[in-house]
Amino acid sequence: MKKRGQTKRYSIDYEKIKMKTKKPKLMMQGHTDEIFTPKYAIKPLLQFLKKDWKIWECAWGKGSLAKHFEEEGFVVVGDKTTDFLNEYENHDIIITNPPYSKKEDFLRRAFELGKPFAFLLPLTTLEGIKRGELFKKYGIQLIIPNRRINFIMPNKQGGAWFQVAWFCYGLNLPEQLNFVELDKSS
Ligand SMILES: C[S@@+](CC[C@H](N)C(=O)[O-])C[C@H]1O[C@@H](n2cnc3c(N)ncnc32)[C@H](O)[C@@H]1O
Repeated sequence: MKKRGQTKRYSIDYEKIKMKTKKPKLMMQGHTDEIFTPKYAIKPLLQFLKKDWKIWECAWGKGSLAKHFEEEGFVVVGDKTTDFLNEYENHDIIITNPPYSKKEDFLRRAFELGKPFAFLLPLTTLEGIKRGELFKKYGIQLIIPNRRINFIMPNKQGGAWFQVAWFCYGLNLPEQLNFVELDKSS
């Protein structure tokens, strides 16, 4: 029985907590390189693009993102065999949802190419010493939707467990951080 003024001591089993904490499903499946972008994800970006720009979709996947921009009247170049890290397509802007396991290499290559780009990436991409150096050297602007995106996964549609943003370079956005409402109706 606890007496007045006596502090009750709890012992916390951190190992047990760690074991019980479930990893988000998508992370466990290791599928973060093969997730595809729904159309509404491009809406916040459209107002900052010039209609006559040629878009290079440099991580084609199944072509979902390319199709969305084509439907909006843009010319899109790229295909599923292109290796962005070693090949080149003529373009005005690169827009993609890159493979997350290679996000640093993709960012470095895009910065070095020197033309505008917009990459849909997890907000945590801001973390990290090497990426920090890149952002400091070249600058970066973000379009941050207020809701998460339900990425299309090979066999099902599910809620992404991470918040993403458009990481933009060379687009002269009004602010460095641009908070926008995401309209999920297509
Ligand atoms: C996250 S998915 C997104 C696909 C598409 N951009 C979309 O938004 O629907 C990334 C894609 O990049 C592809 N990929 C991986 N390494 C690549 C590389 N070096 N060059 C081009 N694409 C690559 C993966 O196979 C995957 O299909």
